[in-house]
Order: sequence, then C-alpha cells, then structure tokens
Amino acid sequence: MILEARDVTVRYGGLVALDGVSLAVPDRSIVGLIGPNGAGKTTFFGVLSGLVRPRAGTVALAGADVTRRSPQARARLGLARTFQRLELFGELTVREHVLLAHRQGRGSPFTRFARDLVGLGARTDPEEDAAVTSVLELFGLAAAADRPAAALGLGTGRLVELARAVATRPRVLLLDEPSSGLDARETAQLAEVLRRLRDDRDVALVLVEHDVEMVLSLARRVTVLDFGQVIAEGTPDEIRADAAVQAAYLGTTT
Ligand SMILES: Nc1ncnc2c1ncn2[C@@H]1O[C@H](COP(=O)(O)OP(=O)(O)O)[C@@H](O)[C@H]1O
Ligand SMILES: [Mg+2]
Repeated sequence: MILEARDVTVRYGGLVALDGVSLAVPDRSIVGLIGPNGAGKTTFFGVLSGLVRPRAGTVALAGADVTRRSPQARARLGLARTFQRLELFGELTVREHVLLAHRQGRGSPFTRFARDLVGLGARTDPEEDAAVTSVLELFGLAAAADRPAAALGLGTGRLVELARAVATRPRVLLLDEPSSGLDARETAQLAEVLRRLRDDRDVALVLVEHDVEMVLSLARRVTVLDFGQVIAEGTPDEIRADAAVQAAYLGTTT
C-alpha cells in the first residue's frame, strides 16, 4: 500500500466529522471516496495530508507512520493534493506553474526552489524543459503554455492545478472534486487524463467526486462515507448494488 489510514476519528467540538474511517490505497491505482455533502471527505483529505489532526487513528505513507508528520514532510515523501477551490497565481503562465512545481518536486533541494522565487526562468535546463513539456502534453496544455493563469477558463485552470500537482512527481495524489465547475466535455477529458495518469505515471490517485459515475468508471475500489462513517466499501459493481448506498446516497440528488 502506498497510503493507508486506519480508524481515523476527527471531532469538531460536539460534531464527529469522521468516526473510525479506514482506507487503503494500492500503488498505481485509483481509489474513490464518495458521499453526500458534509460526509467528511475533505476532512479525511486533511487528515491524510496533515492539515487536520485526528483524535484517533493512524496514517502510513509508503510504509512509514506519518500520523505526526507535517504536511511538508508528507509532501517530501511523495504525497500531493489539489483543493476544491482553484489556487493559481494569476500573472504566472501555465508553463511557469508547472516549472515551479517541477522544481519543488521530490528530490529537489529547497535552496534551489527558494532561489527560483527570485529568478524564475533565468536559466534553462534541457532535462527540466523535457519534463515540463511532457507534463504539459499529458494534460493537453501545450497550446496554452504561455498564457497567464488569469486568462484561463475554469476547465483549463483545473487541468493546470492537476498538472502542477503531477509535476511534483508524487507517489500518491489526492484529488478533491476535480470535476467541480466543469462542463460535460471537460469532465470527459478530465476522466481520460486521470486514466492516463494511472497508466503512464507511477502514481496512485484518491478521487473525491460528486460525479459518482466518474468515480465508479475509474476506481478499482470505492469507499462510501455518510455522516463520518464508512457505509460501504468495495468494487464499483459492489457499490452500485449496495442497498445502503442507494438509500443513503445514490437514490438522492444532492
Ligand atoms: N474546520 C471545521 N470546523 C468545524 N466543523 C467543520 C470544519 N470542517 C468541516 N466541518 C464539518 O465537518 C463535517 C464534514 O465536512 P467535510 O469534510 O467538508 O465534508 P465533505 O467534504 O464530505 O462535504 C461537516 O458537517 C462540516 O460542517
Ligand atoms: Mg468537501
């Protein structure tokens, strides 16, 4: 397992946001996490990435217990995430976003990243150029490479956010509602990119999505949360057939 959480419990005052939730993510797989609004999905990502401290439970990354490690330490061990809201720098171009992320990635010394903050693009490196170009191509962003983020539509912006996370060369990538705000065509394109990521890059994906069909079509296994509890876990076919899931979630429109 590249990532494994066991019996995670989180409380916000009197509210039990997560109640003994476990999740196992095999290498190079897509694992889905679904559930109605307020089920605890984003909170769980917070626990996995180190932004939310659990009351109980453990998180292991590539076999190491990281429950008490900082988000930065987890990033160094190969964990990356995207957020529900876009967080791009308006004046930086698409290529600059990916280039910065690449330099921030696994194995790059921090001093180099800090130096880059004062002289972005001052020096060119063919290996680095090739890595950045390959990420841009994977996401179909080559044509938009020199446009500033502020000039991009939401769909393209989401792809840039994803490209940036991939450029850091993570071993596991947490995606929080990546299709939010996308139209049907952009969502289909996103699903295709996720499939290629899993197949061509050595990365596992944990996918939180309100688009349930997208998750069921991509994931190897799916966990369903409701009010902080796991109400089902299994293959997409098992989840589709699960009565508790249908009652709590699939049958309702949220
Ligand atoms: N920082 C916080 N403080 C207090 N309550 C929170 C906080 N973050 C989330 N919650 C509550 O925890 C529950 C789970 O929220 P969240 O993890 O955002 O759910 P989801 O991502 O599945 O929609 C919700 O009831 C939400 O209101
Ligand atoms: Mg959420």
